[in-house]
Amino acid sequence: MDTSPSRSRTEISGGAHTPRKHDSAHKHVTGSADYIDDMAEPTGTLHGYLGLTDRAHATITSLDLDAVRASEGVVAVLTGADVPGVNDISPSGRNDEPVLAEGKVLFHGQPVFAVIAESRELARRAAKKAVIGYGDLPHVTDVRAAMEADYPLVTDPLKLERGDIEAGLAAAPKRLKGEMRIGGQDHFYLEGHIAFAIPGEDDEVTVWSSTQHPSEVQHMVAHALGTVSNAVTVQVRRMGGGFGGKETQSNQFAAIAAIAAKKLNRAVKIRPDRDDDMIITGKRHDFVVDYDVGYDESGVIHAVDATFAARCGFSSDLSGPVTDRALFHADNCYFYQDVRLVSKPMMTNTVSNTAFRGFGGPQGMLGGERMIEDVAYALGRDPLEIRKANFYGGPGRDVTPYHQTVEDNIIGRIVEELEASSDYQARRAEIIDFNENSPVVRRGIALTPVKFGISFTATWYNQAGALVHVYQDGSIHLNHGGTEMGQGLNTKVAQVLAEEFQVDLDTIRITATTTGKVPNTSATAASSGTDLNGMAAANAAQQIKTRLIAFASEKFSVPAEQVEFIPNHVRIGNELMAFGDFIKLAYQARIQLSAAGFYKTPEIHWDRASGKGRPFYYFAYGAAVSEVSVDTLTGEYQVDRVDVLHDTGRSLNPALDIGQIEGAFVQGMGWLTTEELWWDDKGRLRTHAPSTYKIPLASDRPKIFNVKLADWAENREPTIRRSKAVGEPPFMLPISVLEALGMAVASIADYQVSPKLDAPATPERVLMAVERLKALVADAGMPGEDGADA
Ligand code: MTE
Ligand code: MOS
Repeated sequence: MDTSPSRSRTEISGGAHTPRKHDSAHKHVTGSADYIDDMAEPTGTLHGYLGLTDRAHATITSLDLDAVRASEGVVAVLTGADVPGVNDISPSGRNDEPVLAEGKVLFHGQPVFAVIAESRELARRAAKKAVIGYGDLPHVTDVRAAMEADYPLVTDPLKLERGDIEAGLAAAPKRLKGEMRIGGQDHFYLEGHIAFAIPGEDDEVTVWSSTQHPSEVQHMVAHALGTVSNAVTVQVRRMGGGFGGKETQSNQFAAIAAIAAKKLNRAVKIRPDRDDDMIITGKRHDFVVDYDVGYDESGVIHAVDATFAARCGFSSDLSGPVTDRALFHADNCYFYQDVRLVSKPMMTNTVSNTAFRGFGGPQGMLGGERMIEDVAYALGRDPLEIRKANFYGGPGRDVTPYHQTVEDNIIGRIVEELEASSDYQARRAEIIDFNENSPVVRRGIALTPVKFGISFTATWYNQAGALVHVYQDGSIHLNHGGTEMGQGLNTKVAQVLAEEFQVDLDTIRITATTTGKVPNTSATAASSGTDLNGMAAANAAQQIKTRLIAFASEKFSVPAEQVEFIPNHVRIGNELMAFGDFIKLAYQARIQLSAAGFYKTPEIHWDRASGKGRPFYYFAYGAAVSEVSVDTLTGEYQVDRVDVLHDTGRSLNPALDIGQIEGAFVQGMGWLTTEELWWDDKGRLRTHAPSTYKIPLASDRPKIFNVKLADWAENREPTIRRSKAVGEPPFMLPISVLEALGMAVASIADYQVSPKLDAPATPERVLMAVERLKALVADAGMPGEDGADA
């Protein structure tokens, strides 16, 4: 398979490495892109609405649904007892996630029954008429409370260990301990969850689902229906955003729609409204990180002992792999001589938390960066100096806590170039000057790096399939196992195919993902969509090309080496033939013009029990410099300027990659600044709509936003055309925003005390941190006070 970077041909329109718009961009902005709720409904389509519990933890003592059943327009009411197969949609295989709760409820908002009615409005009205009796049980909603109450872990914890941690900590000249709280995040995709099931004959059913994981929806629907996978077809044309929130959370809606459709033999659609979607579905895990760090006077870290406890919610879902990935990223770009990292996936009486862009990696990395920040302020140094002093280096300083050697390290060059291009040093000096003479407004700047591991840590997930048909007229039909959620996966895979066949991009039609065409697919997740499906599509194209070359060589009696695919043509010896004409000829000669491609990532292996292996095929790198200004009287702030330099290897599509970086940055900034989830003492989520949960607006974007790709970078591994994954890695770049806010706060105490801003650093938290430092300065008569009072 040729993926060498040297073969650049620019003649076709829309080949690999060219900046092309998203294939549906014009449809997204004009409203002509079809989402599931836009599909024409068959006659007799019914609508579902879920009845939720209002208890955080209780046994169900009675369930009276008579009034619901008698309500206008109601056709059926389903409970857990109506699930014909197994009442479980747990993706972890732990059997801990019912489709509909039976016997007890484990979080406020858990679905207990489903109303199926002639319209969504009638179903919703009916649902309010349920009378449910409960025996309340004690509940906990946060990590510390769960630990105090001796709540169980939802899954096995992970330990990563290297060296002798006790000895390392004891021998280090300096030592510090700390705690950091890191908030969760709602996905806030624009298109919410939705499932639309149409029954077929016998046990067959087709489900249109807004999911990143059609194969899992297929398995779960079959499991819940008590049938087998070949009876269930799942279709996905596109999602209006997924961000990890549709990796497992679509199962429930799909299962209920399918059960109702089969029971009633009518089409059934379920689309929760925004509040219900936010209440029912899992989010990013919030974490409490406890750390103990040994270091020396020059800022070099010797030993790290840290525990990452996560609020997992009532069931395991993906909390195992999410908390694992947190540990895999707690080192970020830094070498720790002696290290012990432990996860604590805590059960809580809250919604079951799930995948969210970065999959625990951001939380792990933020914990690691907090340690760097604390060391820097303890020594009175610029955190950037401490970062550089701890970067992974050559032999002896290149092994991660999970015993994988970092072989492709380019963070030194990325940071060096960004430091220069952003004028970091001069700006930092100017900001320190400014702060000295500014009593109210304080500014901050920070440069933070990212190293993110690419591959699913569940090794078997690293496989993909594609189905490619070339039709008689030369037009090409592309289907692969990945799903499109706005990231541009389909465009990139089509570019790969255009490049393989040497045809213009518009020769290729991208079709909806369906379990009927490509089986046993992995979730489109872990940023690996293009890496995996791009390779599988290229493999399919190569199979067809091999047949075509053999055909041409025989038919025209030329050696195979003299058959060449050139832009929109095929050269056969001295003959030049249009691609379409050549295909017609091949068809008439009965050449098979369709192929199923396959790919599996080489090299990777992971032994979770010993905490050793090579879980990642490669790393993606990047860095950002953020500058902010803070009003120290109110805690309000703005992001004044951001500069990013990010590595996407040899980018398959620089336009889409820059879009992913900008989007990920702003989404990550929301996580670290304004997006706050809040549960009350009844375990009720009180932030379940845009009125109470604030995602960044266009007006919150950095006032100056310079995003550049490291155009010299290329993947040292033979990935698809030497590109790198881009979906998640840039999500962690805005750690620089949190740290810049920290620096502005730290100016109060002359940069001698770590600001310790927990995330999200809402204006309220920033103000509290300012007050904390002001009080410290007043108590100690520290020098920073002059500035504050000037
Ligand atoms: N970009 C858009 N526009 N919408 C999304 O839902 N999801 C992100 C990222 N970028 C997402 C996105 C997440 S969580 C992942 S894992 C990757 O896209 C998945 O797609 P990929 O593997 O094709 O990059
Ligand atoms: Mo992305 S969190 O891996 O769906």
